[in-house]
Order: sequence, then structure tokens, then C-alpha cells
Amino acid sequence: MKYLLIGYMASGKSTIGKTLAEQMKVKFYDLDSYIESEIGQNISEIFDTKGEIYFRKLEHLKLKELINLKESMVLSLGGGTPCYAGNMSLIRNNGISVYLQYPLEKIVERLWNDISNRPLVSHIKTKIDLEDFVRKHLFERSIFYQQAHIKVNLNNENIEQATEKIRSLLQTSNS
Ligand code: S3P
Repeated sequence: MKYLLIGYMASGKSTIGKTLAEQMKVKFYDLDSYIESEIGQNISEIFDTKGEIYFRKLEHLKLKELINLKESMVLSLGGGTPCYAGNMSLIRNNGISVYLQYPLEKIVERLWNDISNRPLVSHIKTKIDLEDFVRKHLFERSIFYQQAHIKVNLNNENIEQATEKIRSLLQTSNS
């Protein structure tokens, strides 16, 4: 079985995904890290030197590569992955998709603390502007995120609590 984690930037997909995979005793993959290791550049460098369209094509190809592996896994995706190139159908049809859903204020808080590593928002100078951007962006993207098989509402949980919540929803959906 493949468990595919989706959600906006800074929603903990990678850290939660890693813990979830350990607990479920399956392999863990992170699409952004996979792209970085295959290309030998980090995501910000790829955006800077080759642009977003190049990144989106690469993201689609590498998503297909990971999805085609025959093993069970937890796969954490990038915030934009479900929103391009028909990726959400691929995601839905190849495992259980899980949307990590946080309130807007929480996303803004977390993103503000790590803004320099996110090429889509690193140019934004104030928290108010960031909130404006995220509100609109999240609205546009929600149509994709809401297609996930399972939606997990999160806010102040730590990694263990968040993982527990996901596992319990996975169990309920299985019975
Ligand atoms: C993106 C999110 C990033 C990364 C890229 C684009 C997006 O991943 O894939 O910067 O479009 O939301 P994270 O969600 O892990 O930050």
C-alpha cells in the first residue's frame, strides 16, 4: 500500500511522513528530496536556474517514477504537486491520499519562520502580505487538496500526536 501525504507548504508532510513510515514499517520517500538528489540541486536552485515550469515537469516525472515502484511506502509530496499535470488523479488512483489540513493562521505562522527556503514565497516581505498570498493560494489549491481520500485536521499537535491521528483515521477508513 502507498500512503501519499499532501498539504500546503509548511504543513509538516516530510517530518510526519517519516515518523508515519517508521511506525507502519514501510519505506519513506519525500518527493522534493528525491528530485534534489536526482538532479543534484536543491529546490530553490532549480526554481532560480530553470524556472517553475521546468520544476513542474520534473515533479510530474519523478512522482510517476516513485508511484511505479512496487513497494509499500509513505510518500510526502510538495505543496503544489496535486495541483499540476493531472497529478491528483495519479495520487488518488495509486494509494491512500491523506490531506494534512491546517488553519490559515497556523500555516502563515509556520511559513513565516521558514520563508527563505520556499521559492514561491521567499520574496514576500511582511507577514500581512504573506497571509494575503496564502489565503488566495490556498483557496485556489483547495479544490485539489479536498479530493484526498482522508482529511486530517491539525493545529497544535506534535509529530507523534499528528501521526497518531492519521493512523487512527486510516484504521477507521479501513474497517
Ligand atoms: C511548492 C512546495 C514545496 C516545493 C516547491 C513548490 C508548492 O514543497 O515542492 O517549493 O508549490 O507549494 P513543500 O510543500 O514541502 O514546502
